[in-house]
Amino acid sequence: MDGMPPPQIIWDLATAHAVARCVHVVADLGVADVLDANGATAEELAVRTGANADALGRMLRLLAGHGVFAEGPQGYVHTEPSELLRSDHPQSMRRFARMIGMPVVWNDFTELAKPATTGEPALNFGELMAYFADHPDEATIFNQGMAGKSAGAVTAVIKTHDFTPYSTIADVGGGHGDLLRAILDTSPSASGVLFELPHVVADVGVGSDRLSLAAGDFFADPLPAADAYVLMEVIHDWPDEKAAKILAAVRKSAPAHARVLIVEALVTEAPGPHFSKTLDVLMLAITGGRERTPSEYEALLDDAGFRVERIVPTPSRYSIVEATVA
Ligand SMILES: C[S@@+](CC[C@H](N)C(=O)[O-])C[C@H]1O[C@@H](n2cnc3c(N)ncnc32)[C@H](O)[C@@H]1O
Repeated sequence: MDGMPPPQIIWDLATAHAVARCVHVVADLGVADVLDANGATAEELAVRTGANADALGRMLRLLAGHGVFAEGPQGYVHTEPSELLRSDHPQSMRRFARMIGMPVVWNDFTELAKPATTGEPALNFGELMAYFADHPDEATIFNQGMAGKSAGAVTAVIKTHDFTPYSTIADVGGGHGDLLRAILDTSPSASGVLFELPHVVADVGVGSDRLSLAAGDFFADPLPAADAYVLMEVIHDWPDEKAAKILAAVRKSAPAHARVLIVEALVTEAPGPHFSKTLDVLMLAITGGRERTPSEYEALLDDAGFRVERIVPTPSRYSIVEATVA
């Protein structure tokens, strides 16, 4: 932003939702899926997606200005970022974009004045989970969005941590189990337990001989005994008091030799823009949780009866906070 006139900085920031919403809507419509290597005009894409041609063309023009799709002589063509909005891309972010744009999540940003004045989101994460239990279609978009968000992260985590020493690995709040399945692929003699809310377990369906499903609520039900507990983007959904309760549940079930692996984006203390600061405000608005600094994780784990051994960055947005029973 260096050199940009201050009114332009504020104008751009105050209207940034326009481009964000175009990403959500274009992802929802599946525009990237119907754009092939030949390129297509906005009219053709509108016919293929059931959109209004004029409106879609204007949205694509805005996105193309940000490098998502490009305008060529034959109409619109893909760019590397727009390819990520395809459903069949191995690192597809379509599901993530749909999740962030779905009304029950987006409305939290309409209501951002509430956390700004009270510290509480319009809907806390427990209420959001209860909403999803009653709205299975939206729950599926949310859970698929989580899996989409973590596709690249899963590879980074399994590259960074050696899971082979563990016989039993519990993924607490593990969503659809993508991380746990990838871990078990690297540890052929280990078995895994996916501990999740009943509506998520129902969505996953059945486990396998090495992956069992445990339906429960980590605030109420005992967690399985395991050699390693993985919690990826679970603690950040909750304020400190609730996060402490989750870690207390892990501590209660954990054998003395167990290891806790918290996979989260850590907040940098450096000034300047950083995705962790954006994610932190997403948590403020959507869940009532927060992103934390390394020392905040150390304090939480210490209070719960664990000792942080090391914090290891992964080749992704996430670090692994490794702790043992104190
Ligand atoms: C932000 S998602 C993270 C999912 C997954 N670990 C990942 O990184 O993709 C948080 C997960 O916690 C689960 N969860 C929320 N409340 C829970 C509870 N009380 N007991 C068990 N799981 C819960 C949700 O269903 C959701 O899948």
